[in-house]
Amino acid sequence: MNRLSGKTALITGAARGIGLAFAKAYLHEGAQVALADIDFAAVRRAAEELGEGATAVALDVTRQSSIDDCMAQVVVELGRVDILINNAAVFDLAPITDVTRESYDRLFSINVSGCLFMMQAVANQMIAQGHGGKIINMASQAGRRGEAVVTVYCATKAAVISLTQSAGLSLIQHGINVNAIAPGVVDGAHWDEVDAHFAKYEKIPKGEKKRQVAAAVPYGRLGTAEDLTGMAVFLASEEADYVVAQTYNVDGGNWMS
Ligand SMILES: NC(=O)c1ccc[n+]([C@@H]2O[C@H](COP(=O)([O-])OP(=O)(O)OC[C@H]3O[C@@H](n4cnc5c(N)ncnc54)[C@H](O)[C@@H]3O)[C@@H](O)[C@H]2O)c1
Repeated sequence: MNRLSGKTALITGAARGIGLAFAKAYLHEGAQVALADIDFAAVRRAAEELGEGATAVALDVTRQSSIDDCMAQVVVELGRVDILINNAAVFDLAPITDVTRESYDRLFSINVSGCLFMMQAVANQMIAQGHGGKIINMASQAGRRGEAVVTVYCATKAAVISLTQSAGLSLIQHGINVNAIAPGVVDGAHWDEVDAHFAKYEKIPKGEKKRQVAAAVPYGRLGTAEDLTGMAVFLASEEADYVVAQTYNVDGGNWMS
């Protein structure tokens, strides 16, 4: 409790899933939280439900003007930014022979450019504030390996791990720690969509892919968004001051298996 008291966090893609769970956990730890998402109606509902300390912000991470507006709103309304969770991302699936430019551009624009330019905007704000900060990027086990039909998403998450390393090395001189979390398979709306993609692509019944991946997790079940909040709080806290440019697996042992 209160490990983030007095801190202000900005979380992208916070309307649902992992971003929303992190917002709840950070509020519980005493932070004020700006929940930012392209789905403004959903993120406003989420912030209203969370109540005191939660603020909704409209954000499309693919547009610089939207990033600038988001930063301006957060600084005016909340005064500062101490923590960024770079969480907004989308998924698509195709083997190398079928990847379209449209899908490639969309995934790289949201998952990679969005991550980079959000880091840049927040890092410049933190440098101006002069008290350091914490940036946490959402990578994935998909960034640690190739997958035959997940060509572009895997590449985007490998890029997030690389950006975390370079930004981490560059920004620690300002007292800004940049690290990442690599989840395995986290149940929720995102994985329902992934499952539907696989069902179509591999001509298997809906739910089958999820059943297969759950059976393969050494811990014995799929992850939940709440399984990740401990790492998200730790990386945002002073306890992580000496942790720089790392990507942590939180995946029930999936990556080792
Ligand atoms: N769920 C998993 O199994 C899993 C596993 C590994 C990594 N991850 C990563 O964790 C993060 C969160 O995953 P999730 O399962 O909560 O996903 P999700 O799809 O439930 O949530 C993503 C959120 O991002 C928002 N978003 C999409 N495009 C945006 C844009 N251009 N600008 C701003 N917001 C935008 C969506 O509206 C949505 O609210 C992602 O980076 C994802 O790649 C998830």
